[in-house]
Parts: sequence; C-alpha cells; structure tokens
Amino acid sequence: MTAPENVAAKLEELQVNGEEEDDDDKVTPWEVTTTKASGIDYDKLIGNEEKNCVISTNFFFKISVRFGCRKLDEDIIARFERVTGHKACVMLRRGMFFAHRDFTSILDCKEKGEPFFLYTGRGASSGSLHLGHLVPFIFTKWLQEVFDVPLIVQMTDDEKFLWKDMTVDAAKKMSRENMKDIISVGFDLTKTFIFNNFDYMCPPFYENIVKIWKAVNGNQTRSIFGFTPEDCMGKAAFPAVEAAPCFASSFPHIFGEKGKKNDIPCLIPCAIDQDPYFRMCRDVAPKLKASKPSLIFSTFLPALQGAQTKMSSSEPNTCIFLDDTPKQIKNKINKYAFSGGQKTIEEHRAKGGNCDVDISFQFLRFFLEDDVELEKIREQYTKGELLSGELKARATVEVQKIIAEMAERRKNVTDETVDEFTKIRSFPYQY
Ligand code: TRP
Repeated sequence: MTAPENVAAKLEELQVNGEEEDDDDKVTPWEVTTTKASGIDYDKLIGNEEKNCVISTNFFFKISVRFGCRKLDEDIIARFERVTGHKACVMLRRGMFFAHRDFTSILDCKEKGEPFFLYTGRGASSGSLHLGHLVPFIFTKWLQEVFDVPLIVQMTDDEKFLWKDMTVDAAKKMSRENMKDIISVGFDLTKTFIFNNFDYMCPPFYENIVKIWKAVNGNQTRSIFGFTPEDCMGKAAFPAVEAAPCFASSFPHIFGEKGKKNDIPCLIPCAIDQDPYFRMCRDVAPKLKASKPSLIFSTFLPALQGAQTKMSSSEPNTCIFLDDTPKQIKNKINKYAFSGGQKTIEEHRAKGGNCDVDISFQFLRFFLEDDVELEKIREQYTKGELLSGELKARATVEVQKIIAEMAERRKNVTDETVDEFTKIRSFPYQY
C-alpha cells in the first residue's frame, strides 16, 4: 500500500470505530482553532515532532500533511539565498513560511534556468480583506520579484457559492472586489493573471478538471476532505477546480504549445490549511503525465484576541482590515490585542512579559523588517523593561505603515485595473 492509501484505510477504520479526538489543534480548509495561547503547534502539525498526534477522524488535514510535508529548514533557506542571490524576506527567515513539499525542485529549476510559475488563490469574502488574508499575497509578490516568473491567482467564487448561502452573481461580485485588494499588494500587471472560476472556465481548464475527477474516487475525496454523503455533490467536485491551475495546460495564453505537455511545474505559496487540495493534486499528477506542484506553507496570522484562532472576517474585532483607518488600527490593537504582559506595572517590571502569546509581538514578527530591533524588543519585554502599552504602540506603527502603503495603492485600483489583470493575454516569457 502506498502511504496515502494506508492513511485512507486507517481513516475509514477509525470512522467505523468512531474513535475520539484527543488533540487541541484543528486545522482544516474550513476551520482553524487551538486551545493553546501560543497558537497552533505547527511542528506537530507537519509531524515534525517525535510524539506524533494520534490519527483522528477529525483531522483529515493533519494526517494528509504528515506524508512528504517537510519543515523549511535553514539549509533550504540558505540554498534559496544562494540560488536567487536575495536575502530571505522576514516571513521566510522567521519561519512564518515554515513547511514545504518539493520546494527544492523549484530551486533546481531556478538554478538550471528552467521555467516554472507561481500559483495561489483566494475564496472571496465580503468587504475588505484583512491582514491575515494579505500575508500569503505579500509573500507571493516578493517571491515573484525574486524568481521573475508568471503568477496565476485563482478566485474561487464557485467555492463560495457552494459553501455559503449566496447567489452566483453575489459570489462573482465579491471576488471582483477582493481582486482589487489583492492587486493593491502591488503585483506586476505584465506577469500576473488573475481569474475567477465562473468567468474563466474554458475548454483547456475544464479538460484538466475532468481528468482530475476521473483520477480520484469518492472514498479518497471523503478521506482527504471529510465530506459526508449529506454534502451537496458540488463540494466533492470542487477540489479538482482548485487543483487544475497547477497544470500549465490550463493557461494556453500564457504557456502556449509548451504548456500542453504539463511539464512546467508550479510553486504554490499558501496557508497550511490548503494542503489537502494539493496533496490530492500531487497524487494525480503522474496519472495526467503532469509535473507535481511544489508547495510552500505559511502559518496563520493570529487573531487580535490571541493565537487560539486566526483572523476571521466574520468577527471584525479579530482583524485589522485593509480599509481600517490609522485610528481604528490603534484602537483595535489597544483594546483587543492580547497581551502577554502582567496585570500591573509593578508585576510586569518584576516578572516580565511573554512574547510567545503576545499578539503585538507576533505582529512585529510578521512585519518588522529589522532583526536587531525585534530581538531587542523581545529581550526588553521578556525582562519587563518594556511595558505592554509601549509594545502595542510599536506594533501599531508597523501595522499602520503596511496598511497605509496598501491603502495608497488601493486608491488607484479601479474596475478597469481589474479588467487588465483578468484579460486573456500573453506574458513576456518564451516557452
Ligand atoms: N480555497 C482557497 C480559499 O478559500 C482559495 C484558493 C484557490 C487557493 N486556489 C488556491 C489558496 C491556491 C491557495 C492556493 O481561500
């Protein structure tokens, strides 16, 4: 039995036996929670820890990542720096992007001058995007600059239609609005193609979807994603739609004749909860005679209230939104950002604060460029020299800065800009 089949079999066995979950971390494409203030145990999640968690029916995701998902260690980061000639960005060197599948084969391509592309995506949500949504895009923009390759961004409006109570038109409209926020991250129009599934669905894309449907059976879908017979059939069919853009032949306008061979690999920067889609895709790729996608996974930006959950638009006070004013950002951080400090100043001076659970510190880890300053803040806060209010003020400045930069670009993004990014066109690369 191959490893994934083995897992599927084990899962079915457990489902029959109805064994109980004994772990706190929950990470699926639809839910991310933990009871621990320091957040999800990411090492454990990828099975990087000796004491592996018990196989559980609830953790389809955790089981799926265990196979072939590796920690992004210092050696790979050093090789990345050698191959690209760029210093690793904050999110890479501080472990926000912490795991991967086959990232080294992308580095091989870069080293040999062989083509590859970047693929990422987003399921639309109403209103403005929040900082947590933007993390993978900020990183992807940086990667695209460093690698100098095409980027494909999929908006899964069909996914939202299937999962939420909304009309097709509402889902399409939402994805167009979200595109504007994504474009504001600063992507290069000449190398970036953004599409929403409802509008892009074209013969080459659909053919890949159908090929994936044929290669994966119902038991596998259930094991990987946890669908139940009560779920509508669209949910079980959808994963192929998210997987198909991994294949270059889905985009003939970009990859031309060469793309038809499906041997131009892609690298997918995404949050770790998206792994089930791509593990499935890696399983089917050989059957389609296609390159397996490589992946690089991020942790989640914690909610303001603490690392027990990620930022979630449905609870606005957990998030910093792209359209929050500097004042709103300041108020939210002051009022809600969970503090690892002590109850009184005297106690704080005596005992010091805990950076691991302090959300302001965690934000600085994501966004403060200066390693020396970050280390100094950590030291001073841990010793009690720096107070919670002071730490919050420092985090506020950094978050305000990043949001202001994006808001400035957002002002110039119109419906016409969206039309340009979604237009079927070729890129300045020869294949
Ligand atoms: N399902 C993802 C979401 O809900 C959207 C998505 C589509 C995606 N394709 C992707 C995310 C590729 C990462 C990489 O947000």
